[in-house]
Amino acid sequence: MPNAELSLLNGISQRAQLLDESPIRSVANYGMEKDDVTPLWFGEASSPTPDFICQAASKSLSRHETKYTPNTGLPALCQAIAKYQNNLFGSHFSPENVSVTVSGTNAVMVAAQSCLNPADKVVVIEPLFPTLSAIPEILGCEVIRVALKTKGNSFYLDTDELFAALSDAQAIIINSPSNPTGWVASKELLTEILNFCRQRGIWIISDEVYSRHVFDKKAAPSFCELVDEHDRVIICNSFSKAWAMTGWRLGWLNIPKSLVPTVRMLTEFNVSCASAFSQAGGLAAIEQGEDFVQSSVAALKQSRDCVQHYLGDIPNTTLYEMKATFYGFLKIEGLGFDSQPYLRQMIDQAKVGVAPGEAFGVSGAGHIRICHATQLPLLEPALERVRAFILNVKPF
Ligand SMILES: Cc1ncc(COP(=O)(O)O)c(C=O)c1O
Repeated sequence: MPNAELSLLNGISQRAQLLDESPIRSVANYGMEKDDVTPLWFGEASSPTPDFICQAASKSLSRHETKYTPNTGLPALCQAIAKYQNNLFGSHFSPENVSVTVSGTNAVMVAAQSCLNPADKVVVIEPLFPTLSAIPEILGCEVIRVALKTKGNSFYLDTDELFAALSDAQAIIINSPSNPTGWVASKELLTEILNFCRQRGIWIISDEVYSRHVFDKKAAPSFCELVDEHDRVIICNSFSKAWAMTGWRLGWLNIPKSLVPTVRMLTEFNVSCASAFSQAGGLAAIEQGEDFVQSSVAALKQSRDCVQHYLGDIPNTTLYEMKATFYGFLKIEGLGFDSQPYLRQMIDQAKVGVAPGEAFGVSGAGHIRICHATQLPLLEPALERVRAFILNVKPF
C-alpha cells in the first residue's frame, strides 16, 4: 500500500479500524462475477415488493410527497403499526410507542445509541447477524458472546450461562427468530430474561425482524406481548423481510413513551427521517399486506421442506431444525474457520453461492447458511447441486 494511503488509513477512527469486511460479501463478490450462479448468500426474498405497495409509494410521489417528515415517522404509519401489533400480540401500544426508522439496521443503531455507553458490557447470542455485534462495538462497548448450545439438530440457550454473562452487563441484544440459526425463543424464555433484566436494570434490545417468519404460528413469541411502559426494552422491526421491502430502507422501534424525546433526537442526528414515499408504501404493507405475508410464509414452508429434502441427510453434516426465518444452517464436519476456498469451489463447481458460517461469529464457523427465499424452480436444482458437491468434495 502506498505510504500516503497508509497514513490516511492510520488516521481513521480506532473503532472503524476494528471493523472487518463481511465474509458473506467476499463470497458474493466472487460469485457475482460469474455467470449462471444461483445466489443463496444474502438474506432477502427473490420476489419483488408486491405491486400494491409500489403503487402506494408511486401515488405518494405523484402527490410530490418529497419533503422532510417528522423524526419519529408519519402519524398515520405509527398509528397503523401500533394497531397491527396490538392485533397480532394483544399488546397495548399507542402511536407514541412507535418510532419509524430508516431500516431494521437503523432501528438497532438508534436503540443502541439510546441506551448504551462506551465501555458498557453488552451480551449477544451467537451465532448472530454480524450487525448486532458491530453496532455495540462501534459505540465502544465490550461485546460478550454467549453461544447457543446444540442437542441433536436443535439449538437451545443455556440460561445459566446467559445469566452469568448478564450478571455484570448493562444490556443484551437478542434476535429471535434468529438469523442465521432459525432458533426461536419461547415466550417462557423471553419472560425469564425480562424478569432477570427488570430486577437489575439491564436494557434489552430485541431484534424481531423475522417475527412473521415462523411456520407453526402467526408470529413468533415477542417482547411486545410482555412489556409495559416502565420496561427498559426496545424492540426493533423492519419492513424488509415480511413485505419483501429490503431496498426501501424502512423499519420501526417500539419504545416506552419516556424514550420518545431521546429517540427523536437520535433519529434527527442520524438520518432526520424516513422518506414520505417509503412510508406510504409501508402504510399499504401494514394495512393491506396480511395476505402477502401469509402466502409468502406458505411458500417459504415449501422451500424449507425442499432444503430439508436435499440437505437433511448428508453424511457428516447436520442440518438444524428449520422452525423459522428463511435460512438453513448446515454444519459440515471438517469445515474450518476459513470456509472461503471451499465456498468458492462450490460456486465454480455447483454454481451456487451460500453464506460462510464464520460470518456469524466464532461459533458459526464450520457451518454454511443457505437462504431459501427463492422460487422452487431455481432452488430445487441448486440444492441438488449443493448436495452433490458436499457429497463429493471434502472440506479443505
Ligand atoms: C437479524 C436481522 N436484523 C436486522 C436486519 C436488517 O434488516 P434491514 O434490511 O431492515 O436493515 C437483518 C437483515 O438481514 C437481519 O437478518
